[in-house]
Amino acid sequence: MRTPEHSIDSFKFVLDQIVGDLKGVFVGTHDVLAVLGAYYAARKMYGAVSTVAEAVYVHLLGRASNMDWVTNYGPWAVVTGSSEGIGRAYANELALRGLNIVLMSRNERRLARAKAEIEMDCKVRVEYIVADFASDNQTDLYKTIEAALADKEVGLLVNNVGVMYDFPDVLLNISQQKLWQLIHVNIGAATMMTHMLLSAMVDRGKGGVVVVSSGSSTQMTPQMTVYSATKRYLDYFIHSLAYEYRNSGITFQCLIPFYTATRMTGYSERLSKGGWIVPDAARYASSAVETLGRSQCTTGYFPHTLQLWIGQAVPNWLWMWGSEKLNNSLRQEALARLARRASRYGSQEILSDNSRTP
Ligand SMILES: NC(=O)c1ccc[n+]([C@@H]2O[C@H](COP(=O)([O-])OP(=O)(O)OC[C@H]3O[C@@H](n4cnc5c(N)ncnc54)[C@H](OP(=O)(O)O)[C@@H]3O)[C@@H](O)[C@H]2O)c1
Repeated sequence: MRTPEHSIDSFKFVLDQIVGDLKGVFVGTHDVLAVLGAYYAARKMYGAVSTVAEAVYVHLLGRASNMDWVTNYGPWAVVTGSSEGIGRAYANELALRGLNIVLMSRNERRLARAKAEIEMDCKVRVEYIVADFASDNQTDLYKTIEAALADKEVGLLVNNVGVMYDFPDVLLNISQQKLWQLIHVNIGAATMMTHMLLSAMVDRGKGGVVVVSSGSSTQMTPQMTVYSATKRYLDYFIHSLAYEYRNSGITFQCLIPFYTATRMTGYSERLSKGGWIVPDAARYASSAVETLGRSQCTTGYFPHTLQLWIGQAVPNWLWMWGSEKLNNSLRQEALARLARRASRYGSQEILSDNSRTP
């Protein structure tokens, strides 16, 4: 009969055997380090190759698809913050793919113009809801939106609406009202709209939910602190949801654009000029829309993917140092513009800054 002492003896025996065998294989510590180094290098190499392969698939090969968007998602798409900028351009892309569109933003005149333009270009139905996601009465806001969408089979929700400070700045220069606006619009709208529309998608076993995050969420970004933190929330939100509903047939996607020339970047002439690195909204959206269903997390635009790779390659302290330098210079540019405007219009005050009431 075996006693515990026997077990200990036999374990020690086996261990001695293994150590003895390994000694035969590795002549010394150098060999062990060499194997660990080779393993590390192989893992890094695999990571780099699969990242490039994924980018090729998402940005190049995916474009050959002939997906039927209405069958795949459903007849209606809701795009928040869609009277202009990325949301407006993304809505146009969806309409070109046959989806009826519900536009949402605060300004009815801009919404009516966007509706007329999309209807002229595409043979789809376009409706709009005038809504302020920063409203003081958040409960009533979402009740009203829910009632307005009640008769629609919404297959795709694009949580695009987002606000930044008027220009990059440190926390104490941002008004409390602006901070609430960021929280309600950037976090609240995506959370509540998804909560409202996801259940019917789950019942139908198909649909799509997109959030528009930001490159500033990929590392800590000083002088865009609250903005980038709200965008980080979206990253976590959509990836966790994708896991929770992984067997539901619903597509989830987090888009992380870098600088795009829109009203949001209008505080800087350099950014407003646009180009290959800083595309306009139309160019960005036509690229991003094609990545839906191909990647759960993508910049949506290849030159932005290059920027993401650079950002991921540098240590956090370098990213923060660079962001602060860039944001300081963008703030100086914005303040100089505001000062010029103020002097042109004969005002002693700068009429717009981050602490002004929105
Ligand atoms: N542009 C960039 O460089 C950049 C980079 C990374 C991420 N993003 C993200 O991309 C998304 C779109 O940005 P964008 O550059 O296209 O912005 P934009 O040009 O400023 O457009 C924002 C849209 O949201 C609407 N909106 C703003 N506040 C609203 C509110 N309280 N309630 C309802 N609608 C509101 C605006 O319409 P009204 O004014 O008529 O309400 C407009 O249609 C945002 O989430 C942004 O954070 C942008």
